Amino acid sequence: MKKQSLTGEVFYPSEEVVQKALVKDWEAMDVEAKRDYPGFWGKMAEELHWFQKWDKVIDDSEKPFYKWFTGAKTNIVYNCLDIHVKTFRRNKLALIWEGENGDVKTFSYFALHRETCKFANVLRSMGVKKGDRVTIYMGRTPEIMIAMLACARIGAVHSVVYGGFSVESLSERIEDSNSKVLIVSDGAYQRGKIVPLKQIADEALQRCGTVEHCLVVKRTGIEINMEQGRDMWYHELMNLPIATQACALEIVDSEDPLFILYTSGTTGKPKAILHTHGGYMVGTYTTLKYVFDIHEEDRYWCAADPGWITGHSYIVYGPLLNGTTSFLYEGAPNFPYPNRWWSMIERYGINILYTAPTAIRGLMRFGEAWVNRHDLSSLRILGSVGEPINPEAWRWYHRVVGKEKCPIMDTWWQTETGMFMITPMPCVPLKPGSGTRPFPGIEMDVVDENGKSVKANEEGYLIIKTPWPAMIRTVYKDPERYKQYWEKYPGIYMTGDSARRDEDGYFWIIGRVDDVIKVSGYRLGTAEIESALVSHFSVAEAAAIGLPHEIKGNAIYTYVILKTGIEKSTQLIEELRQHVSHEVGPIAKPEHIEFVDSLPKTRSGKIMRRVLKARALGEDPGNISTLEE
Ligand code: WT7
Repeated sequence: MKKQSLTGEVFYPSEEVVQKALVKDWEAMDVEAKRDYPGFWGKMAEELHWFQKWDKVIDDSEKPFYKWFTGAKTNIVYNCLDIHVKTFRRNKLALIWEGENGDVKTFSYFALHRETCKFANVLRSMGVKKGDRVTIYMGRTPEIMIAMLACARIGAVHSVVYGGFSVESLSERIEDSNSKVLIVSDGAYQRGKIVPLKQIADEALQRCGTVEHCLVVKRTGIEINMEQGRDMWYHELMNLPIATQACALEIVDSEDPLFILYTSGTTGKPKAILHTHGGYMVGTYTTLKYVFDIHEEDRYWCAADPGWITGHSYIVYGPLLNGTTSFLYEGAPNFPYPNRWWSMIERYGINILYTAPTAIRGLMRFGEAWVNRHDLSSLRILGSVGEPINPEAWRWYHRVVGKEKCPIMDTWWQTETGMFMITPMPCVPLKPGSGTRPFPGIEMDVVDENGKSVKANEEGYLIIKTPWPAMIRTVYKDPERYKQYWEKYPGIYMTGDSARRDEDGYFWIIGRVDDVIKVSGYRLGTAEIESALVSHFSVAEAAAIGLPHEIKGNAIYTYVILKTGIEKSTQLIEELRQHVSHEVGPIAKPEHIEFVDSLPKTRSGKIMRRVLKARALGEDPGNISTLEE
């Protein structure tokens, strides 16, 4: 890549960053990976431990149900913990945690391994076996990581439900996964208040009947109900003689399930995306290592929540596979003051910060002075994920936080991809708002309705052309739904995003083309919001859309038809907003509710959200020939 040949606003990496970078020549790596991508991933996999080597890197005999590293035996936890305990990393910090209230805990690799083993023994003693699903519903504390790792160690399949979800979302996910064990915390600190997680879980458990044991981590000490015979304290279980620190690791097949994670799709209920031990391990290990340029002495902070894929891949598994030191923070970025994040970066000497555009925009609002009070010179690399980053936020992040010396890794990926797909590396020239190009070994394109590549700078569907190791294996219990990703263009994976590619081959994400709304980077389905509204006695019909919002990226706007005889009132609007928050979660609370008498629908009865959106934005709704009436 020659300097002169790039168009638009370009930031070239500094000499210092490139000097240190593990990959100095992106093109060479890409060429090698393109020549033989199974060979490329096989080589990456060699860096990890396998109890038995694979017969084949990739098995495509049952497309689109691809298998990776078939015949191999492993367990991701062995590579996350056991391996390091045998080396000099034994006493290296795996995790530094700071609670919102100032509590601090640290875990060396030895300690994290010990706690994981102890808890794995607790789970085993409750009858949890390989393949069983366990639901986890907790705040951002070390125990959520311990719970995930303990499940994986014994071959159980974790299903983490983000703590920002509420009663119906939780109950639906417990029921669908048929979990017999639920792990919760009593509550979580958030902006000086306590989110009553156990109380929400109690209500969820009344709606579903699968859970036999509920294990409760005491974080806040708030008063909670402990149901006899069902609920047990984590700290008491961890003190029992069964909770020894010797715990045999379950050796699993490369393709055995590691976790399911529910995410929103176009229609209906959230789907459980299934990931497996082997390929996911290779994909997250490799991408984190090269994109965030992990060095032995680094302190890395991914400020996402473990309850989303970002947290699974790049708070829990990726960092531990790389033997790095992670930082985890429990609470809100602006508590008690807007300098909380900057203060922690200074105090802990964080080198790598990975966050979302919405957080950057939120912190930007408080002004530079809060950032400038702190010495952030430890930072070397920054990252962004979850939604397109607007160039203004990018420049602020680059200039004010990174002092113009830290490259920003704008990583595009999804719950389904498991790992970074479009991303720079520190040695690559950056354009604010673009994730640059696909990671070596990944082939992507922007195509039209017929699957043909569009011209430079034209908008089209973003697709993935070749399989990748951390790819979704199926939708749990619903393989037909998995096949839908591959149906529009046979053999090609549909991302659900629209994008364009510029004359330099840089990808620019535009947004979702389906009924998924990204609110503050959180992925929500219009169907979930609408069904929550309709579950209220006063609502006959509802439609939800996303409209641009300065900080959240998108905000939820809803249109509601009330049942006959129900009076419209501002009080009812507030009640409906609260209802959605109670059922789905505070993240789904509509920004705006408008009462209407009818909704634009197709003759077959489908709500035309596109028309609602155009109307709200004062734009031309385009083709409305299918509109009823
Ligand atoms: C959707 C996937 C994967 C981590 C968190 C999101 C959007 C994600 C970017 C980015 C523009 C992005 C896409 C994608 N998205 N990262 N860097 N630039 N858009 O995972 O909840 O499964 O959402 O998030 O629309 O399809 P997710």
